[in-house]
Amino acid sequence: MKGTHSDILRKMLQYSKNPPLFEPGEPRFWDDPHISKGMLEAHLNPTHDAASRRPETIDKEVRHLITSGTLKTGDRLLDLGCGPGLYAIRFAAKSIKVTGIDISKRSIDYARKSAKENGLKIDYRLMNFFDIKYEDEYDAVAARTPARPTSAAKPSIPKRSSRTSRRTFTTFIPASSG
Ligand SMILES: C[S@@+](CC[C@H](N)C(=O)[O-])C[C@H]1O[C@@H](n2cnc3c(N)ncnc32)[C@H](O)[C@@H]1O
Repeated sequence: MKGTHSDILRKMLQYSKNPPLFEPGEPRFWDDPHISKGMLEAHLNPTHDAASRRPETIDKEVRHLITSGTLKTGDRLLDLGCGPGLYAIRFAAKSIKVTGIDISKRSIDYARKSAKENGLKIDYRLMNFFDIKYEDEYDAVAARTPARPTSAAKPSIPKRSSRTSRRTFTTFIPASSG
C-alpha cells in the first residue's frame, strides 16, 4: 500500500467498514498490490484452508462433484472469484469448459500461466463479477468467495436446458468419502 500516512489510514478505515447489507463490498481490496501478493501466497499455501483449501481437499471436492454426476464432461462452468485457478485447472482436466472470473490481476496472471503449463484451455477474465452482463449461458456456477454473486449469476444458467438443470454452488460440497 503506497501513499502518505494519512492516505494509508484513510484506506484502512475505508477497508475496515462493513458495507451496507446486500451491497457489494470494496473490490479494489482484492487487487491492492500488497494485499493481492499476500492473498496469492495464502492461496498457494498447501498447509491450511485459510484462503484456498488444501490441495487434497480440492481434489476430493472436484472428484465428488464429478462422481456424483453434479458436473459432467462438456459442462460450461462459470467459476466466480476463481483466484489462482486451483479448482478451474482440476475441472478443465476433466473436460469441463471453465470460465474463471477474478478481480485480482496477480491471481489471474498466475491462473493463466498455470493453465498454459498444464496444457489446459481455460477462459480467464480479469474483471469484477458484479459487472458481468451474463449474456453467456452456463450449466453451473461455482463461487468459493466471501462475496455473494450467485443470485446475480442465476439468470446466466438456462432455465430449461435439455442437458442439465440449474446448478449453483455457493461453496463446493465436501466429499464424504476418499
Ligand atoms: C477466498 S478467495 C477464493 C479463491 C478460489 N475460489 C479458491 O477457492 O481457491 C476469493 C476470491 O474472490 C475474488 N473476488 C472477490 N471479490 C470479487 C469481485 N467482486 N469480482 C471478482 N473476483 C472477486 C478474490 O480476488 C479472490 O481471488
